[in-house]
Amino acid sequence: MLTAEDKKLITQVWDKVQGCQEDVGAETLTRMFVTYPTTKTYFPHFDLSPGSDQVRGHGKKVVAALGTAVKSLDNLSQALSELSNLHAYNLRVDPVNFKLLAQCLQVVLATHLTKDYTPEIHAAFDKFLSAVAAVLAEKYR
Ligand code: HEM
Repeated sequence: MLTAEDKKLITQVWDKVQGCQEDVGAETLTRMFVTYPTTKTYFPHFDLSPGSDQVRGHGKKVVAALGTAVKSLDNLSQALSELSNLHAYNLRVDPVNFKLLAQCLQVVLATHLTKDYTPEIHAAFDKFLSAVAAVLAEKYR
């Protein structure tokens, strides 16, 4: 599904996220909670105010997991298997929400990387996030 060129672009863009992982993660979550308030229902136990320790901490975890996925582009299912179990069986996150998070992350990447977030990179990264979402949702079938 991901071409060799997609993989190259995904790896490239991810290199640029190193060093601001926590910011990118926290901004993505905050944007998701503001834009799609229903997503907040999964986090009743969190302080969801922008920049809270919990939002930052969780943002960092999500971005780190995506980093693992970037290193395993040929084997996403295996790399994300545990997370897939967690989201399907324990957390019961409706898969529609993965698309909402993906959307927010792309807006954050575009605002951080500006001209470096080219249309080609955007397209490749969109494919990547769709592939991640598919893996995270595959245990629901
Ligand atoms: C937990 C990744 C999407 C809700 C986690 C954890 C990671 C993660 C790494 C921590 C697991 C652990 O502590 O062992 C991801 C990735 C996503 C994604 C990579 C998509 C790209 C979502 C979405 C929602 C969600 C869309 C709901 C709107 C949760 C919740 C937890 C969690 C409620 C548990 C938080 C806690 O109590 O600490 N996720 N997630 N996730 N995720 Fe996701």
